[in-house]
Amino acid sequence: MRVILGITGGIAAYKATGIIRLLTESGHDVKVIPTANALRFIGATTLEALSHNSVDPDLYTDVESVKHVELGQSADLVIVAPATAAFLGRFAAGIADDLLLNTLLATRAPILVAPAMHTEMWQNPATIANVATLRARGIQILDPAVGRLTGSDSGAGRLPEQEEIVSAALKLAAPQDLAGQRILITAGGTQEPIDPVRFLGNHSSGKQGIALAEEAGKRGALVTLVTANVTETLPPVHSVVKVGTAAEMEAVVNQQLTQVDVVIMAAAVADFRLAQALPNKMKRSELGDELTLNLIANPDILRGLTARIKDEALKVLTVGFAAETAANTNDLQRLAEHKLEKKNCDILVANDVSAGAIFGSDDSSVLVLTKSGGVSAREGSKRSIANHILDVVGQQI
Ligand code: C5P
Repeated sequence: MRVILGITGGIAAYKATGIIRLLTESGHDVKVIPTANALRFIGATTLEALSHNSVDPDLYTDVESVKHVELGQSADLVIVAPATAAFLGRFAAGIADDLLLNTLLATRAPILVAPAMHTEMWQNPATIANVATLRARGIQILDPAVGRLTGSDSGAGRLPEQEEIVSAALKLAAPQDLAGQRILITAGGTQEPIDPVRFLGNHSSGKQGIALAEEAGKRGALVTLVTANVTETLPPVHSVVKVGTAAEMEAVVNQQLTQVDVVIMAAAVADFRLAQALPNKMKRSELGDELTLNLIANPDILRGLTARIKDEALKVLTVGFAAETAANTNDLQRLAEHKLEKKNCDILVANDVSAGAIFGSDDSSVLVLTKSGGVSAREGSKRSIANHILDVVGQQI
């Protein structure tokens, strides 16, 4: 997505570097338009290096390409951060006297503005009126954060955290095709205790489930994220439930089943557990050279769900995952078709985890199969794969 980042002349201008980073790291093409005063606080060279795009805030260069119109029309999203009181006034009045204001007036893309100024200026009736005018025109304006300001004072006026700005902006640009859909997503890997110290577990990091939760939330879904032993930072979703074992996960998922429209079982669930975990730590000195653990099978949560959905005639779409070690894509597809049938889910996402590939990585490669025979292959970031899976979900609900 092409994101235009406008920077205006306030001390928080240096924080725009974090915003550029977050956007480029998520794969967005960032074009920065600083105002002349913003360049008093931060150099064009820094902005060019971070955005990988040229920075030229002059309205009167490259005139032949009608720069402001071209920029405005090419944008999928516009962010202005930080926005000064003067900028809000000029934007509210439609005074297009520099490249940023001209571009803002020439774009149809959603616009998010993150003001930063001293509390007195934010609370001044002129600023309040300008913010109200812009909000009434559909511009999203974040309230500044409360905290330490430039001088020794503190109060409302700080630029919100860069993550908050980026997440609010991306939400604005994302299609709301899953609006109101209640989606339960499991992520991570269950751990089955052996004794108070040891457990049986797996390598799942939870990254794919987390990416699904984050993207589904941006697309308007009400996400319940059930995490099993995930250490990754969790996205802001409707609700989060933390579990440890397969039995705990089964209880949560079963309890939620009648209250959701979609269940995505991205978690790696341990197939076996100890019938009874030991109450005290096994002592190495007492174990000898061989150890036999008596394991019993865990319930297959997904199979249980699809059986219950059928029995109770529930309207819940189910997505299963299959981590397989396959010789090639054909082999992977064959294994995936078999699993789709066995689990009786609507959609199955299969990946090849030979040689530990994919676990913990930010990228993946998957085959997405549907009950009706659809097959699609995707390779790339777990975020882009999440969006493809959600596209397939969106087609079936
Ligand atoms: O059988 P397998 O472990 O390959 O199946 C993977 C899919 O089934 C995943 O969606 C996983 O969340 C789910 N699963 C489950 N309960 C189990 C094992 C796996 O729900 N005991």
